[in-house]
Amino acid sequence: MGENFYVTTPIYYVNDSPHLGHAYTTVACDALVRFRRLDGQKVLFVTGTDEHGQKVENSARAAGMDPQAFCDRVSRTFRAMNALVGIDEHRFVRTTEDRHIRCATELWRRIDAHGDIYLGKYGYWYSVRDEAPYDESELIDGKAPTGAEVEWVEEENYFFRLSAWQDRLMEFYDANPDFIGPAARRNEVMSFVKSGLRDLSISRTSFTWGIPVPNDSKHIMYVWFEALSVYLTGVGFPDTDGADYRDFWPCDLHMVGKDIIRFHCVYWPAMLLAAGVPVTERVFGHGWWTVEGRKMSKSLGNFITPKALIDKYGLDPVRYFMLRELPFGSDGDFSHRAMVNRINGDLANDLGNLAQRVLSMIQRYCEGRVPAPGTIAPPDDALMAVAHALHGKLRQEIGELAFHRALEILWQAVGDANRYVDEQAPWALNKSDPSRRDTVLYMLAETIRHLAILIQPVMPGSAGRLLDQLAVPAHARDFKALAAHPLAAGTPLPKPEGVFPRYVEEGT
Ligand code: MSP
Repeated sequence: MGENFYVTTPIYYVNDSPHLGHAYTTVACDALVRFRRLDGQKVLFVTGTDEHGQKVENSARAAGMDPQAFCDRVSRTFRAMNALVGIDEHRFVRTTEDRHIRCATELWRRIDAHGDIYLGKYGYWYSVRDEAPYDESELIDGKAPTGAEVEWVEEENYFFRLSAWQDRLMEFYDANPDFIGPAARRNEVMSFVKSGLRDLSISRTSFTWGIPVPNDSKHIMYVWFEALSVYLTGVGFPDTDGADYRDFWPCDLHMVGKDIIRFHCVYWPAMLLAAGVPVTERVFGHGWWTVEGRKMSKSLGNFITPKALIDKYGLDPVRYFMLRELPFGSDGDFSHRAMVNRINGDLANDLGNLAQRVLSMIQRYCEGRVPAPGTIAPPDDALMAVAHALHGKLRQEIGELAFHRALEILWQAVGDANRYVDEQAPWALNKSDPSRRDTVLYMLAETIRHLAILIQPVMPGSAGRLLDQLAVPAHARDFKALAAHPLAAGTPLPKPEGVFPRYVEEGT
């Protein structure tokens, strides 16, 4: 594990308002960012908004607004989403900012200087909704494979000589087997490249809302061409002597949805190779959510905003659900029933009850102070071994972006701790064997401390409250503290309060 880590979300189009899908990508990155920071790495986290292109220009017009004012307004709603879903320190980049325009312009220049940009004639089917061109052969019943309407466009455009990079890309994928995850996406991308690459049209003249092409301002850059370069804007490119570029480039991970894998795994590495800039280490394509079994859409009335979700269920349960409910990389369904099951099962019954039971017994039997452990018996050792193994196991799973498995491992430990409470029955030892009672309660409190420290990346607020109840000081909440700062006997603890309330259906 290197010292520095750079991760990005896609930058979100400002023609749409934030929804469950955006929150998902952002929360997954945030959990990863928090995990890495708690694990001692220096992390740069870049997110932002994608503000150029015909789709945005059209939306601004429909709203009766000037495109820049429109972008300012919608971009703010994405910033607000970040605050709402509780994301840690990050850098927010907008593609209408000067620093981005400078970056994209320089990247264009470098690719051009390498001889990979030329002026040509181009006719193609274009979907404004997808901001993507399609081949005749890709159309289904006259529409894009995504179902979007397409129109025939003919222009004189600049082209990126993508075809020239086909072999280099294949070599690159072979030499970097971890570049694309999960494996199914890697196969998809490799067969797409193997089937032959065409040059990519990278400028437009039919509208004006974009970054001008250097030395030919009749043209603006194709929105994807400049949007991808945002990842370099995030580290201050073209200032390659700057600390951010030196510390964080090449980027460690672009987290993206499966729908935009081709842009990130074919076009982007080819652009970087052509510009002579090192390529990102890894791109991971996560799955898509449906809502109550159907594709989310405003017209179906199942469009979920992050705000509605959080108002209803609370922030941490939503973050937990997103990362626990489906294997990261697969598609899944968001349903009220599944959400309530997780809240009342995993959170309230399993972890919530464990903490509440143990902390209340400490309050009652040990005068509200961390008890001193006495002689250690084999079941105590076994529970401690489970707790101490968690960090290593989680590091492995989070390294593979298997958030669901990381949470499964934590909840196995919650199950072990609950079984240990039942078997050791500290309430029955209260009078008969206070020393054994104290040992058992100490082991449990220590296990809860491990669990609370390790769930911080996913549920920072609730984990923080658990750690408050164990009187763990702020400087002893990172992963180093797991082994370095065990609970000290005699520490006074505040009165316990439930951290994971049950969800009660309205009207019951
Ligand atoms: N602007 C481009 C990205 C440019 S990156 C240089 C874009 N923006 S987007 O706003 O349309 O989508 C952003 C992300 O949201 C994508 O990763 C997409 O996969 C994700 N999601 C959109 N709807 C989703 C679901 N229903 N479920 C999960 N993620 C989804 O694409």
